[in-house]
Amino acid sequence: MLEGAEILRAGGLVAFPTETVYGLGADATSRPAVEAIFEAKERPADNPVIVHVDCLRAAERAGRLEHPRAARLLERFWPGPLTVVLPALQPVRSAVCRGLATVAVRMPAHPVALALIRATGLPVAAPSANLSGRPSPTAAGHVLEDLGGRIPLILDGGPCEVGIESTVLDLAGEDVAVLRPGAVSAEQIAEILETPVRAGGDAAYARSPGTRYRHYRPRAPVVVFGLDVPAAAADRLIEGVLSRQPAGYIICRSRCRPATGLRVRHHADIASLTRNLYSDLRALDREGCRLILIDAVAAGEPVMERILRAASRVVTGDELDAAGIDELIHELSALG
Ligand code: TXA
Ligand code: MG
Repeated sequence: MLEGAEILRAGGLVAFPTETVYGLGADATSRPAVEAIFEAKERPADNPVIVHVDCLRAAERAGRLEHPRAARLLERFWPGPLTVVLPALQPVRSAVCRGLATVAVRMPAHPVALALIRATGLPVAAPSANLSGRPSPTAAGHVLEDLGGRIPLILDGGPCEVGIESTVLDLAGEDVAVLRPGAVSAEQIAEILETPVRAGGDAAYARSPGTRYRHYRPRAPVVVFGLDVPAAAADRLIEGVLSRQPAGYIICRSRCRPATGLRVRHHADIASLTRNLYSDLRALDREGCRLILIDAVAAGEPVMERILRAASRVVTGDELDAAGIDELIHELSALG
């Protein structure tokens, strides 16, 4: 921990666990330190990173809490998986905001993250600690896989509890909007703020630079079966695809008939799928799958947004009726 704080204070990078995913930290008051994050991750230059703090006072030094109920909201959900976008203040603005007038701030609910920030005595800028475009890391080993040799220290806090990134809430504009869905829902936020909260939709997502880029993709193409694909058709598709190449299957309901050779990751509920999605994608890649199939879960679940971003192809029930299964097997096999 002390070593981590020393590295951060000297302008270096440290990967650390949070309750959502692992972050790649740097001093959020230093432009060159933050620049090093972009280089290590190969992150697009116009995509700003989140500033991590250990208390409300530190958040108020990074950005202005203008909404009359903002403090109440943060007292309710911090530390936790909620990031708020605020009008930015110096010196953080010049160091992390990539030309925007706003800054994204969050207090993570992980003892190692909080201890690191406290020991450093600085706000810590940190995106997810993966190579840009890859699934976010939910274990120290994932960080090593992507960034080993590029950064001096990875703090290992075990697997992440939540498994997907924080909710990003825009509190800087006229209308309050969720820019990225996460464990804290728009309804929970609206209840505390006593204001309508916009969620989903392309307009909101366009306000968050990160949503313009490819995300969460393993090496193997990901194919998602829509909720309207009948179980029998899914079985036939899987069998057909499997006869041509090794494939993995991630499911959250028991509708799969585990064909031989299929590497199945079966989750009993959405929380388990959410916690394990990114590590499943990485593991199936490592096991040599040429194609990864995923059974869709209810629309509106934050994990579904990640699944759709990871996907190269979404198969719907309608097109199955129209194109026929054999044609689709042929097309999907060609993806892998
Ligand atoms: O759970 C999390 O949020 C994790 C952990 C490490 O805290 N961090 C994370 O960071 O997911 P990152 O950089 O992978 O995602 C940050 C998202 C991006 O979509 C980015 O575009 C958006 O937040 N963002 C950052 N600053 C913003 C701003 N000023 N306005 C709008 N969106 C912003
Ligand atoms: Mg990320």
